[in-house]
Amino acid sequence: MMPDSPQKPLIFDGTDRWTRFQQWLKDEKHSQYFLLTDHNTFHHCAPVFMERVDIPLTHITLPAGEAAKHLGSVQIIWDQLYEKGADRRSLLINLGGGMITDIGGFAAATFKRGLPFANIPTSLLAQVDAALGGKTGIDYHSGKNIIGVFASPEVILSDHQFLTTLPEPEWLSGLAEIIKHGLIADVDLFSALESITDVRQIDPALINRAAAIKNGIVDQDPMEKGLRKVLNFGHTLGHALESMALEAGKPIRHGEAVAVGMLMEGWLSYKVAGLSEGSWRRMAEMIGRFFETSIPVSDTQILFKYLRQDKKNHQGEIRMVLLKDIGEPRIDQVVSNEWIEEVIKMFQGGLLTTDMSG
Ligand SMILES: NC(=O)c1ccc[n+]([C@@H]2O[C@H](COP(=O)([O-])OP(=O)(O)OC[C@H]3O[C@@H](n4cnc5c(N)ncnc54)[C@H](O)[C@@H]3O)[C@@H](O)[C@H]2O)c1
Repeated sequence: MMPDSPQKPLIFDGTDRWTRFQQWLKDEKHSQYFLLTDHNTFHHCAPVFMERVDIPLTHITLPAGEAAKHLGSVQIIWDQLYEKGADRRSLLINLGGGMITDIGGFAAATFKRGLPFANIPTSLLAQVDAALGGKTGIDYHSGKNIIGVFASPEVILSDHQFLTTLPEPEWLSGLAEIIKHGLIADVDLFSALESITDVRQIDPALINRAAAIKNGIVDQDPMEKGLRKVLNFGHTLGHALESMALEAGKPIRHGEAVAVGMLMEGWLSYKVAGLSEGSWRRMAEMIGRFFETSIPVSDTQILFKYLRQDKKNHQGEIRMVLLKDIGEPRIDQVVSNEWIEEVIKMFQGGLLTTDMSG
């Protein structure tokens, strides 16, 4: 039986974040500590972590990138936990982007029916989205996040200092989820983002605001019975595009896929959900400034194959989140195959090279 709601994590994101984390470690008296990283975060972020926190660690390091978010990697984690005799007082610390927090959370939640884990997100995307909210999981047969459980970390520690080594395309990927939070919940955040020219210069207050939006929504609906579905805006088509690219062996970044997904679902919102042309143009201009807006879909049927796997579907109908206006999302909107074919056609040509009103 699924729990009604996962426990709420402690969030350490103020200037005393590391002191509070150290104190928490002292209080909890874990039996062992495991630090999960990928090759990049092992290199760039583990030294920062070890400077701040002096505890004996077993390192578990995975290859970087979405292609490693599969069962084989979970097994690498389980093997290490098993060999070192991890018990339910052992702590797995996930130090990385969303790939690491998703897979580490899943491995911890399923090992011996649940080890405690902590998320220390090091990518912008993970700080505003992936590390928050208690969804964990892995990809399966190229399908995104098909296997997973709701499981909450004990602690989330967020430190912008980690972002200094983040490559620019990963900043953009995170920006996509910040834009999403503006589009679904906070028109002022969206307006503030419209004046950004360099994503690396984004005001840290906007990063915190985006994270607070996600935390606020998850607090109200931790198990995604209703309201939380708004966070999937851009993700129905975005996940299908990401899965297609994964299957083709040419993974695209999650945020890049979500950016195009938001454009496609924004256009559908304009066509079928009452989004005004002005609001549609505003979001298209904002996203088009930072992201590639054409989609490499040559075989529409493959895209439909993944759309049909979407977890939000009901009785075979494809459902998505559409916008009535910026900041006013509508969940569970049934979209016909004909409209989906239209939007694919629209974006195959590249949005900015065609008439944006379609
Ligand atoms: N659970 C959720 O609610 C949720 C929400 C959104 C996305 N996600 C998942 O998150 C994943 C995407 O997250 P992501 O974009 O962080 O991907 P990622 O973890 O693959 O990180 C992106 C790249 O940045 C590197 N990196 C991370 N931090 C770094 C740093 N500080 N310095 C240098 N390099 C660094 C990583 O090694 C990787 O190469 C996807 O798997 C997606 O499905 C989950």
